[in-house]
Amino acid sequence: MHENFPWWKSGILYQIYPRSFQDSNGDGVGDLRGVIERLPYLRELGVDALWLSPIFPSPMEDFGYDISDYTGIDPLFGTLDDFDALVAAAHNLGLRVILDLVPNHTSDRHPWFIESRSSRDNAKRDWYIWRDPKGEVGPPNNWLSEFGGSSWEFDAYTGQHYYHAFLRNQPDLNWRNPEVRRAMHDVMRFWLRRGVDGFRVDVMWHLIKDDLLRDNPPNPDYTEGQQPYQQLVPLYSTDRPEVHDVVSELRQVIDEFDDRVLIGEIYLPPGKLVAYYGRDLAGAHLPFNFALISTPWNARAIAKLIDDYEAALPPGAWPNWVLGNHDRQRIASRVGGDQARVAAMLLLTLRGTPTLYYGDEIGMPQVEIPPDRVRDPWEKNVPGMGVGRDGCRTPMQWDATAYAGFSVSEPWLPLSKNVALENVATERRDSASMLSLRRALIALRRARPELSLGTYKLVSVAGDLLVFERAHQGRRLLVALNLGVASASLAAHGRILLSTFMDRQAEEIDGSLSLRGAEGIILKPSA
Ligand code: NOJ
Repeated sequence: MHENFPWWKSGILYQIYPRSFQDSNGDGVGDLRGVIERLPYLRELGVDALWLSPIFPSPMEDFGYDISDYTGIDPLFGTLDDFDALVAAAHNLGLRVILDLVPNHTSDRHPWFIESRSSRDNAKRDWYIWRDPKGEVGPPNNWLSEFGGSSWEFDAYTGQHYYHAFLRNQPDLNWRNPEVRRAMHDVMRFWLRRGVDGFRVDVMWHLIKDDLLRDNPPNPDYTEGQQPYQQLVPLYSTDRPEVHDVVSELRQVIDEFDDRVLIGEIYLPPGKLVAYYGRDLAGAHLPFNFALISTPWNARAIAKLIDDYEAALPPGAWPNWVLGNHDRQRIASRVGGDQARVAAMLLLTLRGTPTLYYGDEIGMPQVEIPPDRVRDPWEKNVPGMGVGRDGCRTPMQWDATAYAGFSVSEPWLPLSKNVALENVATERRDSASMLSLRRALIALRRARPELSLGTYKLVSVAGDLLVFERAHQGRRLLVALNLGVASASLAAHGRILLSTFMDRQAEEIDGSLSLRGAEGIILKPSA
């Protein structure tokens, strides 16, 4: 339909957490054959591309973000043949496949690290970040691990520390070493040649560290009760100026192939985030914009965020929006009840590529995890601070059978208690369900270039009501979102295309549009 735009601009991305999407072999963990079985569902939903969290061989200390072989498939998920079958089946259905690239760190069981730690003069020693201790065995500087504690691990065998931004089982690669860069570029080519349509790059802003390894300054805003990592400002350990050269080299590899996309996982405020588009937009196509995940759920804050982000975008840069992922609390639980529908309408009517997180389309909640079922290493390292991520990674709820149609045996994480009501099969039959709303929103976005490609203009923000306009080639749509519980109204003329309650389609509005509490409306203005 939109021939002059690359697919990732007009398209919608869908994140699959493979452990939790569909189990095909009854071991309680999702796998690639399971994803293949469910591709028709994604087609029906109407998304354009699926991004798979890591599926590579891994000791699974961080559930796949600790990779021990970049060019294989972990047997838990299947085989390379299964992967090829998945890409072929997805492409047949017109769906693209995006892989997770984790270039910042490997598993400590990756052969590169095993070699690197074997002696100080090993050829791979400099592939990781090794430093002498301060004093007897003290860490080389004050840097902290995102997952708690020092980010340095003393290795008695060679008497030096290695750096790990996350678990000690996840040593950071040294991106100042050209051999590391070449090796990772070859990893990308391996998958691009196999037909993958792009990468989501893990912790892109972490990739290169200060060459002098200077101490990070204390965080003046730190308060008791925040997680320990917040004690310091990660000034020297992340977002270094040199990272942009690294990113532009990743992009060059992407550009060796037609029509592929480079997405970066970057948790930075808009002003710093947009630098990852790169000089002359030669960096990431889409530096993930996570700001909605942490912005307070009120009209004024969201309007300001959109304006700040739009204003920060470099000329020609394409925006994007994310409302959930495998690291953050589920949106349905964060905003609650009918506001989850408003959130869905917001995500699918904003300017820029939306990324949906599996299960959000049926309103899956954050699941409470009993202490004996906790799997997330972060929660285990820093218990009781609410950092645990298991609750947003629970099995997809396909139907109301014993294990929600996800598996024939007990899943690796508990299912939510709402499975009987909130599942794909039930919601498919209900024309007013969250799933039906999502499908209608996606269909509308696909049918209306105003929504997928049009300009964005804030019309008004008054009380809980956020109103904006999307326009393309002279055609306009109005989006009105009521983020409060009381009804609200605005002056408008036109026809309702969609209400979040799914009950006002085609209603004519002549002068005053009134919205119920927690209602969102897409209106085709008549003048
Ligand atoms: C970011 C990933 O999204 C997260 O799940 C993981 O734990 C860290 N990177 C470390 O790889």
